[in-house]
Amino acid sequence: MTNTTDFLASFSFDKRLALYDIAGSIAHVKMLGKCSIIPAKDAQKIATALQVIAKEIKTGKKLKAQEDIHFAIEQELIRKIGENTAGKLRTARSRNDQVALDVRLYLKDKIKETICLITEFQKTIIKKAKENEGKLIPGFTHLQPAEPVLYSHYILSYAWMLHRDKERLIDCYTRVDVMPLGSAALAGTSFPIDRKYTAKLLDFSKVSNNSMDSVSDRDFVIEFISAASIIMMHLSRLSEEIITWLNPSFNYIEIADEFTSGSSIMPQKRNPDIAELIRGKTGRVYGALVNILTLMKALPLTYNRDMQEDKPPLFDTVDTLTASLEIANAMLASVKVKTLSKEQIKTGFSIATELANFLVRKGLPFLEAHAIVKIIVDEYRKTDTELENLTASELKKYSKYFDSGAENILSAKNTASIKISYGGSSVKSVRAQIAELTKLI
Ligand code: ARG
Repeated sequence: MTNTTDFLASFSFDKRLALYDIAGSIAHVKMLGKCSIIPAKDAQKIATALQVIAKEIKTGKKLKAQEDIHFAIEQELIRKIGENTAGKLRTARSRNDQVALDVRLYLKDKIKETICLITEFQKTIIKKAKENEGKLIPGFTHLQPAEPVLYSHYILSYAWMLHRDKERLIDCYTRVDVMPLGSAALAGTSFPIDRKYTAKLLDFSKVSNNSMDSVSDRDFVIEFISAASIIMMHLSRLSEEIITWLNPSFNYIEIADEFTSGSSIMPQKRNPDIAELIRGKTGRVYGALVNILTLMKALPLTYNRDMQEDKPPLFDTVDTLTASLEIANAMLASVKVKTLSKEQIKTGFSIATELANFLVRKGLPFLEAHAIVKIIVDEYRKTDTELENLTASELKKYSKYFDSGAENILSAKNTASIKISYGGSSVKSVRAQIAELTKLI
């Protein structure tokens, strides 16, 4: 039977905040000493003992379990310097502002780490885009062959998604970077504390403006998980591309063996399990978002114990996101793009649009050009012949405007390289994108 002590406890998961909790306490006690709220020599003694505890944790010492990390560190401090001195650390502070501080310190670090992981991933995409310059791959709409594009252009689209993901994190960071300590339980404190000094010691840009808001607010956690959900959605879509491209019916790429698994029954199988798991783990992060939104909904101000439940979804999101970014990066780095056959690239008459554009350049309205090319496509589809084999004289049967120049259009390579519009799938555009991204990351 679960007892109430176990039910109340958060130590099993909030112990990962230990070093942040200690950093917060050191700053707090230094401020108490500087403002003469406690004797300077006591402040010094407490800060030194806390530094020793931090060092011990870093070298692998396990804290004795308590209800939560805040009590665990306090108990360790009492063991080291006794209750009379250690007890002064509680002055002008509550666990309510303490936990809000710890989570903010933790998240500031994690956002910075996530941004670095995204940058690494973007570098891989750029490297692969350069390596594979000129390689063609079918572009789809509705998962039906639409127009051939450059593989580099295809994967660079993910570098741009990741760029926006990074912008969202940077924006979120500005709201995490606000120091709540000094709000005490909910109303502030009657001691003459110097919150700006504490914020400076902890490298916060701002101090929160309302003590009740400070101990109640978990918007910043929601915002981070929401940004993480969007990143996971992008990784999931990239995984889906890889899964599709690996399917033998498509057969566009190879990936390193470590990113596939065999089947216990079908010896021939090479399943894209890693990509599938990134796609699957996206659900965990969305779940975390719904979890925390539901947790906070309708909570009265200020702190409620419900809020202790913010940490499992947050930590799980950080772990899942970190692992997924690392693995997706390594997986994409291992992708070898095949040189696709004409049949693979042009499946589904994907050069038809450019044939219609040819007629438009001769003066026909696009609507009419579209209708003419549709007749050609319908006819050739019946006989299963690719458009590429058409000659100018055969084309002339459908429109007098077709001449020998139209034959150039019929090559998939030309179809991709003439997409010279800004942001299109031409080599020139790919190079411009790489230059722009290199400046941005
Ligand atoms: N373990 C608690 C949490 O994570 C710390 C704050 C407890 N505050 C309180 N008033 N009981 O939320």
